[in-house]
Amino acid sequence: MDYDVKDLQLASEGKLRTEWAARDMPVLDWIRRRFAREKPLKGKRIVACLHVTTETANLARTLQAGGADVALCASNPLSTQDDVAAHLVKNWGIPTFAVNGEDNETYYRHIHSALDLKPHMTMDDGADVVSVIHGDRKDLVRGILGGTEETTTGVIRLKAMAAQKVLLYPIISVNDANTKHFFDNRYGTGQSTVDGILRATNRLLAGSTFVVSGYGWCGRGLAMRASGAGANVIVTEVDSLRALEAVMDGYRVMPMSEAAKVGDFFVTVTGDIKVIRREHFRAMKDGAIVANSGHFNVELDIESLEKMAKKKRSVRKFVDEYTLPGGKRINLLGEGRLVNLAAAEGHPAAVMDMSFANQALSAEYLATRKKRLSRDVHPVPAEIDSAVADLKLKAMGVGIDRLTKEQEKYLAAWDMGT
Ligand code: ADE
Repeated sequence: MDYDVKDLQLASEGKLRTEWAARDMPVLDWIRRRFAREKPLKGKRIVACLHVTTETANLARTLQAGGADVALCASNPLSTQDDVAAHLVKNWGIPTFAVNGEDNETYYRHIHSALDLKPHMTMDDGADVVSVIHGDRKDLVRGILGGTEETTTGVIRLKAMAAQKVLLYPIISVNDANTKHFFDNRYGTGQSTVDGILRATNRLLAGSTFVVSGYGWCGRGLAMRASGAGANVIVTEVDSLRALEAVMDGYRVMPMSEAAKVGDFFVTVTGDIKVIRREHFRAMKDGAIVANSGHFNVELDIESLEKMAKKKRSVRKFVDEYTLPGGKRINLLGEGRLVNLAAAEGHPAAVMDMSFANQALSAEYLATRKKRLSRDVHPVPAEIDSAVADLKLKAMGVGIDRLTKEQEKYLAAWDMGT
């Protein structure tokens, strides 16, 4: 078996941590046990390009239990948990190509190595596998039934490809499932981003000014958690509706040019490029802490920061201090990569349970359909989304009411007035 991981001796630690995460993934566990009986993925080869974490390991094992051959590579050079990568190879025989801190060239070489499996399906977190296939590996397209996409940034890229009619195989947008973004993007990003910032800096949030850039699901979750820890939250937005929502949720909203002057912490979660740029770095206070929790580090204009700085040094693990002319210091966390995965362990398993249940069930849906889907970005079927919600509630021991016959009739009627 071909693989590339840091050190196979880390496998026992990876095993323990993966088992720990599995305890909080009851929905995926239920799916895994059904997959083991029914083998809906029998004979299918799946290449997954995801953050190599304990939660992803549990997904890979679920796909394997369903009969699939799985190869895994990292969806970000800094997010790989090397012990988990070793565990996947050593204990479960899953070819894994991922080393934390790998350079760009290795990152893409690893994607190519995983693709040598000649997949029937792909799983992406940021659309890098789709992009490599649509570039150098077009030869693989004929054999591909479809793929899935985990994250907002990837979905944006894929929808642009579909709109330009260049998308060569169908994709299911797992990110758009309600049981994904309501929980993973909001509560997962909210908690894990704060976790990453605190592990990297050990700074006090209470009483600080915390700038959240972007008020999508991730921004909402992050603002909520920072505010809960006692920070004064400022939101920056380009969308008036979202800005209005942030105002009514109780936050200050202003352009980045103003926020830059007062913030102690800055986090981008927008999916766009250069949200914090030269003029903003220049306006920041001495000691400002800057991080990104969006998928790509392009949200921060790091190139300009590098050019502006007269000195750069690593001052703590995950913290690079840039000194600007005049002596002001800006602290960049995790090289601007997703701070929740670079400096912490990503979203907790309890939310990844739902995201990865959607992934596993979407893979089953692609593998067992009689007719191929069109070359477009498709939603997760509503039955899958609500099945995941039902199972999660059941696993949590939460019961809900059911409509009575009379209520059902009332909701379907238009002529029953007051
Ligand atoms: N994305 C965010 N958190 C994650 C995690 N824990 N595992 C895999 N992908 C993630």
